Amino acid sequence: MRFDDVVELFADDLDAAVGWRVERVTEEPDLDVRWDPTLGAEAYRMRVSSRVVVSAADGAGAFYALGALRQLGPHELWGHEGTLTEWPVPHVEINDAPQFAWRGAHLDVARHFFDGAVVRRFIDQVAAHRLNRLHLHLNDDQGWRVEVPAWPRLTEVGAWRPSSPAGHESEGRDDGQPHGGFFTRRELVELRHYAARRHVVIVPEIDLPGHAQAAIAAYPELGSAPPGTGVWTRWGISEHVLNLEPITRRFARDVVRSVAELFPGAPFHIGGDECPTREWEVDPRRVTLMAEHHLADERGLQGLFTAVMAHALRAGRHEVLAWDEVLDAVVPDGTVIVAWRNVEEGRRAARRGLDVIMAPMQWVYFDWLNSDAPGEPVAIGSPPRVTTWERVYAFRVVPDDFDAAMAARVRGAQAQLWTEYIATRDHLDYMAFPRLSAFAEVVWGTVADLADFRPRLEDHLGRLSAMGVRFRPLDL
Ligand code: ACM
Repeated sequence: MRFDDVVELFADDLDAAVGWRVERVTEEPDLDVRWDPTLGAEAYRMRVSSRVVVSAADGAGAFYALGALRQLGPHELWGHEGTLTEWPVPHVEINDAPQFAWRGAHLDVARHFFDGAVVRRFIDQVAAHRLNRLHLHLNDDQGWRVEVPAWPRLTEVGAWRPSSPAGHESEGRDDGQPHGGFFTRRELVELRHYAARRHVVIVPEIDLPGHAQAAIAAYPELGSAPPGTGVWTRWGISEHVLNLEPITRRFARDVVRSVAELFPGAPFHIGGDECPTREWEVDPRRVTLMAEHHLADERGLQGLFTAVMAHALRAGRHEVLAWDEVLDAVVPDGTVIVAWRNVEEGRRAARRGLDVIMAPMQWVYFDWLNSDAPGEPVAIGSPPRVTTWERVYAFRVVPDDFDAAMAARVRGAQAQLWTEYIATRDHLDYMAFPRLSAFAEVVWGTVADLADFRPRLEDHLGRLSAMGVRFRPLDL
């Protein structure tokens, strides 16, 4: 295996950062990148003496090695249009490999739309931290963000809202500012390629049957909402969910299939969180459906959506992920559960023999306040909904009391950036960093204690600065 693409990207990054050119030579290179099939997935070895020898079994390993090499050098290497006269590298040998295969970051582009440029920049940041999954939340009550040719009104109507809450939702004020946008199919394919080159897999999410008000605003026949219901302009959980008509389940199936076509072979997230059943409870169709499928209560109806979407995606060779609420109904074998409500939901999934990605809000929801200081910008909740970077660093992906079989179910962890209260790129930076830097160590598996981490993090802030990241200061 040759690592041409990894080396080319390294050369491009170096050129952009400090204007240095990488030249390909056959004799005595300063940097030698070798294939070593005995190394594990994403692992690398790096020996630095008078020259640098890097070994990896796959492109990700080589990419991470060259990232580590940059980390050993001056911060300018992470910037743009800087200069550098020399790059001293300490003599080291590094043998490194991730503990967890799933090292995810999630970004909600539905509540506030972030365009391709912002997402590419975020991918750069994610990749620099050796995270390897970007979960894109592509629809919600407040906006639909992906073009679906058979259902054009999803973006013509569903991608736009006339207003958003001003201040905190609880204040009940509106900003009166239209907001919207969406990705064309081509843009999403380009993002997929951009991410893949940086060893990040984009995991698209279409969240159904709840969080569907934007879809219902576009196609009212999919819901039971009062006539004239538009794309939602408030935050929270809309009562307007997909209805129980057979044609609506076919819509769910066709839409996930259509979006999945843009991401061949990638895992696909079908949402499934926070689906109120009030509209179903008064729908006469529920009686026959519940009898036909032997369902004990209305919660079980959600399983019909899970099944139809999972089946369609599996047929297209996509692994299926869902939020932990799907555990309240029948879940197809092999569904990967993203445990967000708490660690216990992860335990429940693992006990049922399902693989788990740990994403508990109490630890890794970066829409929560950075601290309880009075000056923090408005966030989703008030104290105790606080997640300091120190707390993120204390997060353990596998709870101590998981036995070996349960621990083997844990694929890894994911940090969430929900964007009700994140409207700008700078604020996204502020909420993501340095918490995502702390998270990266936790999920790579090199976590130590805070006294050890803090000086390294302080140094790392220099790299973030070079990258132009508007991170939150460590202490305020
Ligand atoms: C979620 O935070 N509703 C998954």
